[in-house]
Amino acid sequence: MPAIVIDNGTGYTKLGYADNKEPQFIIPSVFNFLFFSAISIKENSRVGDQASRRLARGIDDLDFYIGDECLDSNGYSIKYPIRHGIVEDWDLMERFWEQCIFKYLRAEPEDHYFLLTEPPLNTPENREYTAEIMFESFNVPGLYIAVQAVLALTASWVSKSASQRSLTGTVIDSGDGVTHVIPVADGYVIGSCIKHIPIAGRNITYFIQNLLREREFGIPPEQSLETAKQIKERYSYICPDLAKEFKKYDLNPEKFIKRYKSFNNITKQPFEVDVGFERFLGPEIFFNPEISNPDFVTPLPDIVDECIQNCPIDVRRPLYKNIVLSGGSTMFKDFDRRLQRDIQRLATQRFKLSNSLTEGKIQPKPIEVQVVSHHAQRYAVWFGGSLLASTPEFYQVCHTKSQYEEFGPSICRHNPVFGAMT
Ligand SMILES: Nc1ncnc2c1ncn2[C@@H]1O[C@H](COP(=O)(O)OP(=O)(O)OP(=O)(O)O)[C@@H](O)[C@H]1O
Ligand SMILES: [Mg+2]
Repeated sequence: MPAIVIDNGTGYTKLGYADNKEPQFIIPSVFNFLFFSAISIKENSRVGDQASRRLARGIDDLDFYIGDECLDSNGYSIKYPIRHGIVEDWDLMERFWEQCIFKYLRAEPEDHYFLLTEPPLNTPENREYTAEIMFESFNVPGLYIAVQAVLALTASWVSKSASQRSLTGTVIDSGDGVTHVIPVADGYVIGSCIKHIPIAGRNITYFIQNLLREREFGIPPEQSLETAKQIKERYSYICPDLAKEFKKYDLNPEKFIKRYKSFNNITKQPFEVDVGFERFLGPEIFFNPEISNPDFVTPLPDIVDECIQNCPIDVRRPLYKNIVLSGGSTMFKDFDRRLQRDIQRLATQRFKLSNSLTEGKIQPKPIEVQVVSHHAQRYAVWFGGSLLASTPEFYQVCHTKSQYEEFGPSICRHNPVFGAMT
């Protein structure tokens, strides 16, 4: 029986069986109760609160939806169990997993080992809650909780430009809610050097929504967010230079304009939107954040450079050499090229400065920057999990049901690093 791999993200949950190339399901991480009374019970419950957990189990016969079904079934309150990558509501999370396993995968959890993922700086207590739910509610035979950044590094081994199978690299994980820059050395995350920026997929969608609102009046208001998201995913790209791109655009706008067509969900009438400079201005907020947020002005390449500079000197070169992309918001066309160019510029500037300060007496090798892009980048964390959970080593590092019964949830406070095999 293959292991089951589930990557729970703020926006989307990716789930499927190990050794597959793609997740079987990518569903929104949303949750919807049919009965409002149930929500009020939930709202009073706190993380790990045993009493409320029991209360929640007592209302098992309630109907509830997760994923796309929830977004389709209008009128019910929608809740997100995960915020900024971290589980906030464990009761909802348990119900969510229940649906993932039984309804989507149609699997018996007793028959499969599980690989789940965690964000950087997850707490040991959160791992214990996860273990408790997995072993006690679902009776799984084995569990491993993997660090998302390490899985993303493993996934990048499929890229042609990845020089070797290295577990040292800088992971840029940009999903829906947050963008993390995570340095990893030999499979260990250098926790003190992690950086995050408040710009990710959702911010770009809002920004494009605002730009369209000022100009396009045909979009049904209740569909404006979804329209902006579709436009972003379908037509956006990263330009090499914003000012030059605008000049080109002004000279010849027809070359840039795309027409987005859709239907009003309620009236079923068709509507159309002209998409122009939004295409390159939207994702530009990674590189010029001040255009959308006056409180945060540091471009992503500077953050990556700072992050690596904060790391121990002996790992800086390999960290520059292996910058790995992961998550839906790294999918913009030419994101990798622009990042590589901008980070290389920063590294070269510093190199020249230090050379001039030492008057050329010390002649170090120039820093080489490489940003690695690959076909599984959209769900890199899940894909890395799928690769690792299909190896024999996975079954050696898993915590088993019998260990759990003997020692309790504390066995999952820490997980051994694995994945360094070739
Ligand atoms: N082709 C694409 N181009 C640009 N953005 C995309 C594309 N496909 C998906 N996205 C965006 O990626 C985001 C979802 O990415 P992902 O599934 O990696 O996030 P997540 O894991 O749920 O969130 P997080 O990692 O923040 O917890 C959404 O904002 C979505 O609009
Ligand atoms: Mg994610």
